[in-house]
Amino acid sequence: MARRKFVCGNWKMHKTGQEALQLVKDLVQRLSGASAQVGIAPPFTAVAQVKWALSQARSPLQLFGQNCHHEKQGAFTGEVSALMLKDAGCDGVILGHSERRQLFGETDEGVARKVKAALAEGLHPIVCVGETLQEREAGRTWEVVSRQMRAGLAGLDTGAVQKLTIAYEPVWAIGTGRNATAAQAQEVHGQIRGLLRELGGAAAADAVRIQYGGSVKPDNAAELLGQPDVDGALVGGASLKAEDFAKIVEAAR
Ligand code: PGA
Repeated sequence: MARRKFVCGNWKMHKTGQEALQLVKDLVQRLSGASAQVGIAPPFTAVAQVKWALSQARSPLQLFGQNCHHEKQGAFTGEVSALMLKDAGCDGVILGHSERRQLFGETDEGVARKVKAALAEGLHPIVCVGETLQEREAGRTWEVVSRQMRAGLAGLDTGAVQKLTIAYEPVWAIGTGRNATAAQAQEVHGQIRGLLRELGGAAAADAVRIQYGGSVKPDNAAELLGQPDVDGALVGGASLKAEDFAKIVEAAR
């Protein structure tokens, strides 16, 4: 089955409201003819403005949160729920990003709770997995990635698994300018595809997009996206410049 490519820009903690509006206007213009599915994940403070701009332009660009809490509401200072993201106009949410895991102590179990919360609101979760440099050098890449996958998807039925996107993001490639080679990415993506078959059945393995993330740039996107199991990209730094992000989306056609 041909899976439609899916490219998502993760803006991380960048862009004020005005800056976000400017970027989204530029993106809407450049991406009007894109054949790939495209998402952007602005910081929470800019979500409403970006939503407004996308609606005004009747743009098919999808809106993602960068994280959410697993409860709908409550005394959780500083947190935002899946319900709130849905209410603000988000289509989906990035979950378990390595920065959340490394800098904010997110666990595999915590990610699993968030995945369920997002699905319960009808949000499209992008579940991030990936090994550190130390883990790769110790030959533990698949041990780590498969553990994150099994834990993150625990308790989901096959129908739920089909609603996910997986982002394979080797931690050593994020923000370093050192991307995984196409062969390195394909190797892990192929293993993830196999595990999806085990966890969600053949239909899920066929349907779920597996994005690669980690220093995706206009000049390496085509090669990475040309791999049979690389169904898109999760793009950090290069998603902050409309021209670069549009080139990456173009490479995903
Ligand atoms: P990068 O980030 O493209 O800046 O390496 C990717 C990510 O963290 O999703």
